[in-house]
Amino acid sequence: MRKDFYPALETAMHHALEYLRTVDERQVGASASLETLRQRLCKDWNHDPIPAESVVRDLVKDTEGGLNNSASARFYAWVMGGSLPSALAADWLTSTWDQNAGLYSVSPASAIVEEAVGSWLKELFRLPGSSSFALVTGCQMAHTTCLAAARTWLLRRQGWDVERQGMSGSPQIRVFCGNRHASIDRTLRMLGFGDQSVTQLRVDGGGALDPSEFEAVLRALDGQPAMVLLQAGDVNTGSFDDFEALIPIARQYGAWVHVDGAFGMWAAASPRFERLVRGMDRAHSWATDGHKWLNVPYDCGYAFVAEADAHRASMSYHASYLTRQDAARDPMDWNPEFSRRARGFASYAALRELGRSGVQELVERCCDCAAQLVAGLGALEGVKVMSAPIINQGLVTFLDPSGALSNEWNDQVIAEIAAEGTSFFSGTTTRDGHRAMRISVSNWQTGPDDVSKTLAGVERVLIRMRLQGGKGGQAEPEMLGQSI
Ligand SMILES: Cc1ncc(COP(=O)(O)O)c(C=O)c1O
Repeated sequence: MRKDFYPALETAMHHALEYLRTVDERQVGASASLETLRQRLCKDWNHDPIPAESVVRDLVKDTEGGLNNSASARFYAWVMGGSLPSALAADWLTSTWDQNAGLYSVSPASAIVEEAVGSWLKELFRLPGSSSFALVTGCQMAHTTCLAAARTWLLRRQGWDVERQGMSGSPQIRVFCGNRHASIDRTLRMLGFGDQSVTQLRVDGGGALDPSEFEAVLRALDGQPAMVLLQAGDVNTGSFDDFEALIPIARQYGAWVHVDGAFGMWAAASPRFERLVRGMDRAHSWATDGHKWLNVPYDCGYAFVAEADAHRASMSYHASYLTRQDAARDPMDWNPEFSRRARGFASYAALRELGRSGVQELVERCCDCAAQLVAGLGALEGVKVMSAPIINQGLVTFLDPSGALSNEWNDQVIAEIAAEGTSFFSGTTTRDGHRAMRISVSNWQTGPDDVSKTLAGVERVLIRMRLQGGKGGQAEPEMLGQSI
C-alpha cells in the first residue's frame, strides 16, 4: 500500500513556517535541560507503527527548548549562519528528490548543478579556473579532501605512489602551521600524519603567522616534502595570514600551500575586504563552508584544488557496476563519500538568490554589525574589548565587579546573556589563557536593529548582575561550549 505523504509533510511545513515566523520572539539559546531532553526523546522504542504525522508532531513537541535557534538574527555563537529562503526550500526538495549525487548517471541534474556551483565559487574567490572542486559536508571534509590531494602530489614527486603503496615507509611529509582550527588536526590524524609531523610556527598577537622565520624554516627542509597550512580568518580573531608574502616563499621550496578559509574566504566578495585575501589564489588548495557565511543549511563545505590530477587520483575509484559518463563530471571522482546527498541544490539556490551583489552586501553588513556590536559592548561598563573585528569576528571579556579580569565572571555573564534570551554568544579561551566571549555575525538577517536589541539585552544583564553581586544563576554552564 502506498502511503500518503501529505499529512506528515503538511504538519512539518506548518511547523517550519511557524518556527521561522516566531524565531525572533524565542529565547535564542536552548533552554531545556539535558535530563528533560533525555526523558522526552529517549523513549522505549515502540513495537507498533505510529502514523507519520504523529511522529512529526511528537518530534516538534519533544525537541521544544532543545534547539539553539541559529536561524535567529541575534545568534552570534561559534560561526553559524542561518538558511536563506531559497536554500532552505532547495534543501527540502533535495530530501524530497532523494538523489544519490555520486555519479552523473545516477542523478544527472545534481551533477550539473555542482558544475555550476563550482565554477561560480571559483569566480567569487578568484581561484584559478583550472582548479578542481568538491562539494563536501563541511570545511573539515574539505580539508581532508584537499590534503589527501596534497599527500598524493607531494609523494608522487618523491617517486612514491601513496594510493598503491600507502603511508607506511613513505618519505615523511612535514607540516608547518601557525594558529589552526581543530579540524586541521583531525584531518592530519585521518590522513596518517602524526602530531609529530607538525611544526608550530610563531604567530603575532592576532594569530597571523609571523613571516620572519618562515623562509629559514623552509630552507632547512632541504628538499623534504612539506605542506604549509595558512588561515583566511582565525576562528577567534578573524585574522588573515599574509598570503602575498608567504605563498611565494612556500612555493619556492616546493611546499604545498593549503588555505583554511571556512568563513574568511568570503571576504573576497567585497572590495572593502578583498585585500585580506590578496595572493591567496597562488595556494594549492582551499577549504571553505557554505553553511556558515553563505547561509546554506548544514551540511555544506567546498574544497578546491589547483592540482586537479592529484585531487582526482586521491579520490577516484572505479567498479564495474558504477556507470560512468565520460562527457560529464562524476562527483565520486572528487569527493570522499560514495553515496552522497545532492547538496549542490541548496548552494545553487543561495548563490542565485543573492547574486554577486547580494553576497557582497551580506558580507559587508555582517562585518559592519560585528564592528558595531564590539564597539557597543566595549562602551558598556565592565566590558573590555580583546579583539576588534577584522571581518565578522570579535572578542570581548567581562571584568568582575572589582574591575579585574576573571574567567569565572566572564563565563557567568555569557551564561546569563543566554538565559536572558535576547541573544546568544559562545565563549573561548584566548592564547594567553583568558576566557572571552566570541562575537560572530554570520546570519543573513542580522541588521542594525538586532545590534541595538542585543546591546540593550547585554546591558540589562550586566546591571542586574552587578546589583545582585554576581548571583544570576539561571543558565546552564553546559550551554557555553568552546569555539568550534
Ligand atoms: C576556521 C575554521 N576552519 C574549519 C572549521 C570546520 O568547519 P566545519 O565545521 O564546517 O567542518 C571551522 C568551523 O567549524 C572554522 O571556523
